[in-house]
Amino acid sequence: MEGSWNSVSITLLTLSFLLFIIAFVGASEAPSRHLCLQDQRDALLELKNGFKLSFRPFRDLTWSTTSWEKKVDCCSWDGITCDNTSGVVIGLDLGVNSLEGEINSSSSLFRLKDLRTLNLAYNDFNSSIISTQYTTFKELTVLNLSQSSFSGQIPTELVQLTKLVSLDLSSNTLSADKSFLDKLVRNLTNLRELNLGSVDISLEIPKNISNLSYLRSLNLDDCNLIGGFPTSVLSIPSIQSISLSGNQRLEGPLPEFHGNNSLAYLDLSYTSFSGSIPNSISNLKHLNVLRLLDSNFSGLIPSSLGNLSRLTNIHLSGNTFGGEIPSSFGSLTQLTSLGVDSNMLSGNFPIALLNLTKLSYLSLSYNQFTGTLPPDINSLPNLENFEARQNSFVGTIPSTLLTIPSLRIIDLADNQLNGTLGFVNMLSSPPLDFDNNSLSGLYLSNNIFTGQVPGWLWSLPNLNNLDLSHNSFSEFEGFAKDFSTNVIGVLDLRSNDFQGPLFVPPIPVAILLASRNNFSGEIPTSICDMMTSLDILDIANNNLNGSAPECFWNLTAKYLSVLDIGDNHFTGSLPDIFKNATNLRSLNLGHNHFVGKLPKSLTSCSSLEVLNVEHNRFNDTFPFWLQSLKNLQVLILRSNEFHGPLQYHPQGPSWFPQLRIIDLSHNDFTGTLLSDFFIHLTAMSSKGDSPKLKYIGGNSYYRDSMVLMNKGVELEYTRIFTLLTAIDFSGNKLRGKIPDSIGQLEDLIVLNLSSNGFDGNIPSSLGKLTQLESLDLSRNELSGEIPPTLRDLTKLSFVKVSHNELVGPIPQSTQFQTQSASSFEGNRGLCGPPLNEMCGVVDTEPSEEEEEEDNVISWIAAAIGLAPGIIFGVTIGHIVMTRKPQWFMVKKKKKTQRIALGRFASESTTK
Ligand SMILES: *[C@@H]1O[C@H](CO)[C@@H](O)[C@H](O)[C@H]1NC(C)=O
Ligand SMILES: *[C@@H]1O[C@H](CO)[C@@H](O)[C@H](O)[C@H]1NC(C)=O
Ligand SMILES: *[C@@H]1O[C@H](CO)[C@@H](O)[C@H](O)[C@H]1NC(C)=O
Ligand SMILES: *[C@@H]1O[C@H](CO)[C@@H](O)[C@H](O)[C@H]1NC(C)=O
Ligand SMILES: *[C@@H]1O[C@H](CO)[C@@H](O)[C@H](O)[C@H]1NC(C)=O
Ligand SMILES: *[C@@H]1O[C@H](CO)[C@@H](O)[C@H](O)[C@H]1NC(C)=O
Ligand SMILES: *[C@@H]1O[C@H](CO)[C@@H](O)[C@H](O)[C@H]1NC(C)=O
Ligand SMILES: *[C@@H]1O[C@H](CO)[C@@H](O)[C@H](O)[C@H]1NC(C)=O
Repeated sequence: MEGSWNSVSITLLTLSFLLFIIAFVGASEAPSRHLCLQDQRDALLELKNGFKLSFRPFRDLTWSTTSWEKKVDCCSWDGITCDNTSGVVIGLDLGVNSLEGEINSSSSLFRLKDLRTLNLAYNDFNSSIISTQYTTFKELTVLNLSQSSFSGQIPTELVQLTKLVSLDLSSNTLSADKSFLDKLVRNLTNLRELNLGSVDISLEIPKNISNLSYLRSLNLDDCNLIGGFPTSVLSIPSIQSISLSGNQRLEGPLPEFHGNNSLAYLDLSYTSFSGSIPNSISNLKHLNVLRLLDSNFSGLIPSSLGNLSRLTNIHLSGNTFGGEIPSSFGSLTQLTSLGVDSNMLSGNFPIALLNLTKLSYLSLSYNQFTGTLPPDINSLPNLENFEARQNSFVGTIPSTLLTIPSLRIIDLADNQLNGTLGFVNMLSSPPLDFDNNSLSGLYLSNNIFTGQVPGWLWSLPNLNNLDLSHNSFSEFEGFAKDFSTNVIGVLDLRSNDFQGPLFVPPIPVAILLASRNNFSGEIPTSICDMMTSLDILDIANNNLNGSAPECFWNLTAKYLSVLDIGDNHFTGSLPDIFKNATNLRSLNLGHNHFVGKLPKSLTSCSSLEVLNVEHNRFNDTFPFWLQSLKNLQVLILRSNEFHGPLQYHPQGPSWFPQLRIIDLSHNDFTGTLLSDFFIHLTAMSSKGDSPKLKYIGGNSYYRDSMVLMNKGVELEYTRIFTLLTAIDFSGNKLRGKIPDSIGQLEDLIVLNLSSNGFDGNIPSSLGKLTQLESLDLSRNELSGEIPPTLRDLTKLSFVKVSHNELVGPIPQSTQFQTQSASSFEGNRGLCGPPLNEMCGVVDTEPSEEEEEEDNVISWIAAAIGLAPGIIFGVTIGHIVMTRKPQWFMVKKKKKTQRIALGRFASESTTK
């Protein structure tokens, strides 16, 4: 962002330079009447008619009214300059006009042969190529075609325009012939300004670039330049600005700099420059701007930089500079912007910087700074951005910081700051000029702040983002009546020690995140006042109870996209209030005490992607009526009182067209599954649209999460990959055969049908589920042999078929042989390793203790099994041990040691 700001400002400088030239040429002409030549006028009108004007963001060429009309002298048209004696058009300025259309070699433009300046920048010429016709402008001194959608190869013939003083072809999709730059350097020796930004050059900068001995400004950003940095650029005596950023294969150390130069602007960001900054940089006496972001520089920041008293901007972010910021920086009194974030800098807050009264941007983030923040930080009266995220600053926030009225961003997240924010108590004595306060972002997450959240925060007129998450704040100070009329975009209170009634801010909030606190009692009805603005409400993991207020439910009729009230103590049934909730994307009601039926109005939630009602007491039949939700990807009904059959005769070609995770476990579903049951889950078969590898919810402030029984353990997914697919019907009363149609779900990764009454054979079609990583069919009444087709499931890292009626040998493939014996025990006649029973020998029931011990093994297997799966290899989940928490605590250490033994360790080593 910061980079583009600078390129805009450079472009504007360039433009104003051009406008200056044009204005100068124009001003020097005596105003004269009716000079316009007819053929030139006609050429201009033809040109005009070839374009359409889309909109006019900056300039107003009054084409449609008096200017550019036949009856008016064309020399007085807007953008036209004529020679005051001959009347020929010598200047055409159509820059920044939003013209649309093509300029090809037969354009009437090329009839204006006497042009000396031509500016077509900032239009849309629709991928026109730059024709060789431009060489007809033999007198051309200024050619600006930047940012106008030109494409193709630059004609090398352009180098015949030897009078060019300024050439700008930047920000198009152009490429250059191998010889172009070399010829340009030989021929266009009058150039003062050369901007080829974004032209694909793919070569080294020619050594003879110093031929351009009048060059003041060289911009070769994003030109795909390669090779070493030619020091000859620096030997051009007039050069004032060098910008080579974004050439990721451009290398070099910085050369030693010698005196006698004019360099004011140097940008080598996003390149492969390496090494340290030489002390001799102090010879760049005219330097204003030094930009070396995101390259490979290292070493100490030289103290001699402090001698460059004209410096206004220093950006060294994203390198590996170490050591401290030199105290000599205290002399850089013109400095407005200093960014040294993402380096390896250390030491205390550089006190010398407090001398820099013009400083408006200071970023120290992502370094190893320590110590306290200076109490007199308000010596920087013009500070707008103060960013020191992810360092090791300790102590309190200086009380003077907030008295700097220009501050817009304070980012002190991820430090070890402590104390309270009570340093400005607006209720007693307002020290701040609230009306003129600019603060829009205050980021204090991941510190150790305690005490009250001060009430004056709500009076800041521009506050848009307040992140207090992951601290130990415990309460809210009251607030004055005349708080601001602002709307806060994001208010993040997650993971603090807040208690008492849920905090409802006195001003509207779009995203309110308050999960993982200790808020208790019912939801205050005052929340209804701000609910019209709400986009995300996350109040999960608190101690809230009661039923949700009516008005609270009505908010779903507005913009709400996420509602997470999981892990509380809410009771009662859900009213039928989702009719207008067409923006609702994620609804989590899990781990509460809701009863009754799911409201039918949920069918109106056409944006719904995640519906999680796990661990409540919903008493309903399976909501087949949700099948029309085109975006539903995750449906979790786990641990409720859902009942009845899952039999369904679909009317359309598919139901739940995007459903990829369905967890119905631990309910009372009964009956058999129809033979085509699985055919309709099209999103889990490769026939469905293949989703991209991304997270559900994308980059939203709210991260959808879930718990899924996978590989024998409950895994908490802190984010949900769109590629994950899972079916968990375990712990119900389903009967009959497992339908063969299961084999259609070629993308299925987790299948758990355990603890039901399924009988018949294990369908051999399971062998088609080539993505399957976890298969649990245990505790059913399955009979026959394990189908040999399952041997080929190479991704399978967890199999459990214990407690069935299975017989015959366990397949001799790695997938099966690396499971623990407990995965197979309790069958009538399974035999062979990993069971101790040789084939043919009668089984015995395992003792309770053996079973426990075996759990250890499957836990290990699961933990290691995380590695091979595409989903589980990347997902950072953590294992939730709900089954035997005490056992887990006691044996944790032992288990860790065992993990080192790996899945391939023999069973005897686990005793
Ligand atoms: C315009 O004409 C005046 C004399 O009439 C002359 O002095 C001047 O140089 C001319 N300007 C240009 C740019 O030709
Ligand atoms: C040039 O463009 C005009 C329209 O802008 C079109 O009519 C003409 O055919 C084009 N000529 C060539 C040679 O492409
Ligand atoms: C350099 O410019 C001259 C004069 O316009 C021209 O004759 C010559 O061909 C140009 N050189 C190249 C390499 O195009
Ligand atoms: C602060 O700047 C003044 C010049 O304005 C200079 O004389 C002084 O040495 C600087 N102080 C520090 C600590 O660098
Ligand atoms: C804050 O941190 C500082 C330095 O780590 C420590 O000396 C001080 O006791 C802490 N204060 C509180 C209130 O925790
Ligand atoms: C909520 O909606 C219900 C029915 O749509 C309506 O009767 C009630 O007045 C609404 N309540 C509020 C506070 O908007
Ligand atoms: C749904 O929206 C419509 C139109 O905005 C409104 O008339 C209706 O009252 C809303 N219904 C509910 C239940 O909020
Ligand atoms: C579900 O509701 C029905 C009647 O509405 C009731 O008979 C049944 O006992 C309930 N189920 C459970 C598990 O409470």
